[in-house]
Amino acid sequence: MDRRKVILDVDTGSDDAVAIMTALLSPELEVLGICTVNGNRAVSFTTENTLRVKEFLNSSVPVYKGCAMPLVSSLQPGRRKHMPYTGPDNPEENVHSDYLDNMPPAKTAPERVNAVTFLIDTLMASDGDISLILVGPLTNLAVALRIEPAIAGKIKELIIMGGAYEFGNVEPFSEFNIWIDPEAAKIVLDCGAPVTLIPLDATHRACFSEQDCADLDAIGTKASIAAAEFARHRIKGYRQFQPMARPDWGPVHDVLAVAAAIDPTVLKDVRQLYVDVDFAGGRADGMTVIDVDGRDKKAKKNCMVAFNADREKLVAMVKAALARGEKA
Ligand code: BDR
Ligand code: CA
Repeated sequence: MDRRKVILDVDTGSDDAVAIMTALLSPELEVLGICTVNGNRAVSFTTENTLRVKEFLNSSVPVYKGCAMPLVSSLQPGRRKHMPYTGPDNPEENVHSDYLDNMPPAKTAPERVNAVTFLIDTLMASDGDISLILVGPLTNLAVALRIEPAIAGKIKELIIMGGAYEFGNVEPFSEFNIWIDPEAAKIVLDCGAPVTLIPLDATHRACFSEQDCADLDAIGTKASIAAAEFARHRIKGYRQFQPMARPDWGPVHDVLAVAAAIDPTVLKDVRQLYVDVDFAGGRADGMTVIDVDGRDKKAKKNCMVAFNADREKLVAMVKAALARGEKA
């Protein structure tokens, strides 16, 4: 089987953890490395958590620590008060904790090379056959593009969990990953590489249910049981602060990006559109402005945007992947 070469960029994070486990246990993917970034928590936490997931699966994948701060959004009064993130204004506050408590502390360290250098060196040395799955703020790739813009031409595809059309989660129309570092998102979406954007519109329609958690428990691998714990925690958190279509459902956003790298048909209602990012500092700060009707005739359609997803297919893919792990 031809394995698809991917690099993950994460801010682990409960849903990032499920995404990483699914990627590492999917034979369709060859994970070349995992980059970490400031997001759900400060990069020291997201790196430790990523190492925990890697060690939990006995994986040898290299982990590269990335950017500790967004590009500029923390510099301007009234924008990002708590950077790196420590405070209570993350909409997902009650679905992540500082550490992934169901996994032992990491014994290994990240690579000596930082994530930005790893991205540049790996992409420049490649034949243009590497895709990036980005499920945190886009700071690492934006910095890499500023240092070496030629990497854009070397990227096969960017699969990004981020953005929102109908509803945001940190502001009425802004989604967390884009909102943390909107300038980085603007640089990445406009870089010229093919982009598949997976906004909340898709992830909220592909939730995991309490029954799915029971099924994951029954599969009986370390990974499936850990995923069930994360998903249950998320279902409970969402029920309290951001109810989904059903009270026993919760989104595990980031795993949808990994599934899309394996089988793009898991995404539904995918349209090639122009997506801009607002970074003016007002209520639309961090909003993905998705030109669904093509009002801007001059703008280059820079993203394939998924507005929906196949919930049943996603859940089946994740169960199949996690079933390959070590028995508990
Ligand atoms: C995104 O924000 C983070 O909290 C999650 O890990 C996900 O990547 C959803 O808005
Ligand atoms: Ca994430």
